[in-house]
Amino acid sequence: MAVLLVAHATFPEVWRNAFTEAFRDEGLFIWPDIANLHDVDCVIVARSEPGVLAKLPNLKLISSTGMGVDHILGLADLPPQVPLARVVTAEMIDQVAEYVTLAVLRVERDDDHFDRLQVERKWQRRMTRRTGGKLRVGLLGWGVIAREIARRLSFLGFPVAAWARSGRTDGPIVVHAGTDGLHRMLTASNILVNALPGTEATRDLLDAENLGRLPPGAHVINVGRGEHLVDTSLIDLLDRGHLAGATLDVFRTEPLPQDHPFWLHPKVRVTPHSAGMLTPRDSAAAILDNLRRVRAGQPPRHRVDITLGY
Ligand SMILES: NC(=O)c1ccc[n+]([C@@H]2O[C@H](COP(=O)([O-])OP(=O)(O)OC[C@H]3O[C@@H](n4cnc5c(N)ncnc54)[C@H](OP(=O)(O)O)[C@@H]3O)[C@@H](O)[C@H]2O)c1
Repeated sequence: MAVLLVAHATFPEVWRNAFTEAFRDEGLFIWPDIANLHDVDCVIVARSEPGVLAKLPNLKLISSTGMGVDHILGLADLPPQVPLARVVTAEMIDQVAEYVTLAVLRVERDDDHFDRLQVERKWQRRMTRRTGGKLRVGLLGWGVIAREIARRLSFLGFPVAAWARSGRTDGPIVVHAGTDGLHRMLTASNILVNALPGTEATRDLLDAENLGRLPPGAHVINVGRGEHLVDTSLIDLLDRGHLAGATLDVFRTEPLPQDHPFWLHPKVRVTPHSAGMLTPRDSAAAILDNLRRVRAGQPPRHRVDITLGY
């Protein structure tokens, strides 16, 4: 049995070393440097290389190196019977949940206001605690990341609701579904957090109509995908004063182009897709764990449904 890594020549040395170390006992080959393709039972796809998967008849596992699988789902030779898994680690979930918690607390405490006062050297004491209770948070998605965000925000006393493909009640959290459910949640959310996966069904979901359903003064936090958000609609709603602010970590084009209006917009906070980052070692360990599972006849963790795209 052997493991094949399909990566760019520019695949960083630190990642290459982490994979070589983790798969020392399994036999790691880096495409196209492999003699016997029949030996490969696990392929780790860091970049799309059309035609490679069709040459591997004994595959038990196809893995991404990170949470995204778009570069694999687009491959015409993706075998539907072989499990495709993404890499999800507790460390990554922790980081993204922390990022969102910080952003929500900054809005709740109106920290931007105090940042501005400091620049102007103004001492203006102000009550930040609202009499009507804490701001209401709506989560788009109820996956591993959204659930951890909800757990933390609920602990801090924020009323939280969510929206997913399938509706349910999860403990105290109502998970809405469908278009009506989406509209119900949007109209009730002072802070909207996007943690959806990038699929055809979720592309451009945050358009003028849906963002416009948020109550006046709402704030948008995007840690999902840049393709979910229609940039011009967000800017228009911010400029017209309907929305109060946005905290954005993901963008339609990354790196965010130098001339993009988000960079200098006074109501937008930009971070460079850094809410959560996988370490090479954690990624390699998670893939190795999954390989051991499939070799033992168990399903891999975080399998992707290739028909749904997540
Ligand atoms: N910014 C960063 O640094 C960073 C880091 C890591 C991840 N991310 C991003 O975070 C996002 C969430 O990741 P995750 O691992 O939590 O996702 P996940 O576990 O795959 O969960 C996806 C959730 O989205 C829901 N969903 C999917 N399609 C839907 C649709 N058409 N309508 C309504 N709901 C839909 C699913 O509903 P069901 O529950 O009904 O299936 C599920 O609740 C991804 O976009 C990922 O790339 C960002």
